[in-house]
Amino acid sequence: MIYEDMGRRLIDTDSGLVDRAIFADQAIYDKEMAEVFEKSWLFVGHESQIPDKGDYFLSQLGREPVVVTRDAKDEVNVLLNICTHRGMPVCRYDRGNAKLFTCPYHGWTFANNGDLTGVPLRAEGYGAQLDRSKWGLIKARVARYYGSIWATFDEAAPSFEDFLGDMAFWLREFMMAPDGEDDGLEVVDGILKCEIPSNWKFGAENAAGDLYHDVSHKSVQRVGLALTKLRGRHTWDADPAKFKLLNITFPAGGHAVRGNLYENPGRDYQSQWAADPEVDAYFRDAHYARQKRLGEKERLLNRGGIVFPNFVYNAANRTSITSWIPRGPSRTEVWKWIFVPKKAPQAVKDAMRNYLLRYTGPAGMVEQDDFENWGSAQVGANSILARRLPMNYQLRLGDHARWAWPERWIGEGALVDEGVSEHAQRIFYDRWAEMMSGTPQAFRQEAAE
Ligand code: FES
Ligand SMILES: [Fe+2]
Repeated sequence: MIYEDMGRRLIDTDSGLVDRAIFADQAIYDKEMAEVFEKSWLFVGHESQIPDKGDYFLSQLGREPVVVTRDAKDEVNVLLNICTHRGMPVCRYDRGNAKLFTCPYHGWTFANNGDLTGVPLRAEGYGAQLDRSKWGLIKARVARYYGSIWATFDEAAPSFEDFLGDMAFWLREFMMAPDGEDDGLEVVDGILKCEIPSNWKFGAENAAGDLYHDVSHKSVQRVGLALTKLRGRHTWDADPAKFKLLNITFPAGGHAVRGNLYENPGRDYQSQWAADPEVDAYFRDAHYARQKRLGEKERLLNRGGIVFPNFVYNAANRTSITSWIPRGPSRTEVWKWIFVPKKAPQAVKDAMRNYLLRYTGPAGMVEQDDFENWGSAQVGANSILARRLPMNYQLRLGDHARWAWPERWIGEGALVDEGVSEHAQRIFYDRWAEMMSGTPQAFRQEAAE
């Protein structure tokens, strides 16, 4: 796809070239907030953050501050956290439990479903002029998917199901417990937050399919961060079972995942937690329970991916979600949710939490490398001289990816590429360009061939 703006060619995925300006230019940034972020479904959090009626937490919907609540009817609401009187945030705590939010400025009071319930001086001050039903908090459309909560303020956006398309299979799979039970995860209390000097797209496209920046993590591999302590930093590096490495993209939505597809079903459990027999026993049992529950689909190991534009998940023992929240062309707020299996014994939850904190997050050993990469790439994006040359996305450019291959159940609308390539990044920028150019969001479900 070729995308030009103001006569300038910004995206040319046919040739694998991307203009650096899309990572640095304020006007492009403003446009992508309106065309991409405000028209997409975005992840705001997980239901385990609000288990009880009245529970709430603060989140972000693109640039907009929101409060996510569970109301008296057990409905989940995503409300713009801005008072309809003069615009103060009505909720100022990260999380809690409340039936009402009272604005600290003049005391307008809103129920936790967004309705305006109380206005000081109402009778004598406003008389009949104030129709309270028109002055509730602005409400987003909300979708709940196996524990994850999504929202958009765009009334014209397609349904969440259409937006997700065939990516649904992978998102559902990610939200499973290790034994394959649906909606089996819970959030570890406390969302990790930090800010990095980088455009949000560097983190997003990295998760789409960047499987070749191992050089960045060499030092981590040397100290044996992987649970196996054998080689590599991923637990599957030590598994003798044969698999194909797949990059799977969904061009209709711009989503992408990475997965191992094992040649044979019924592979043996590889002990990763041998130092702790209780933890090891849990994962051994879960491994075989998953094989039984998922049948042929257990051959798949979901390694992680992206729901376009900025939701990234990390799977396979590193269960976490990252949201890249844009704060400017060269600033990104990073929010990270860490998950453990809901029904696991406490020892397992503790072991996973400890491993994940070591692995990821602002003080983790792997994320540090990546943040450094993206902050440094931003130097190149900001350089006027460097902008004479576009960024290069030509790795394995060509027509070798195939529809829904080799297994159709991974998604009819899936375009699959084996091994390492930049195919998924090219699809990511195709989708970005499509939205920036205002192409109607006709989420194509192209027939698999
Ligand atoms: S700004 Fe909220 S009550 Fe006035
Ligand atoms: Fe990395």
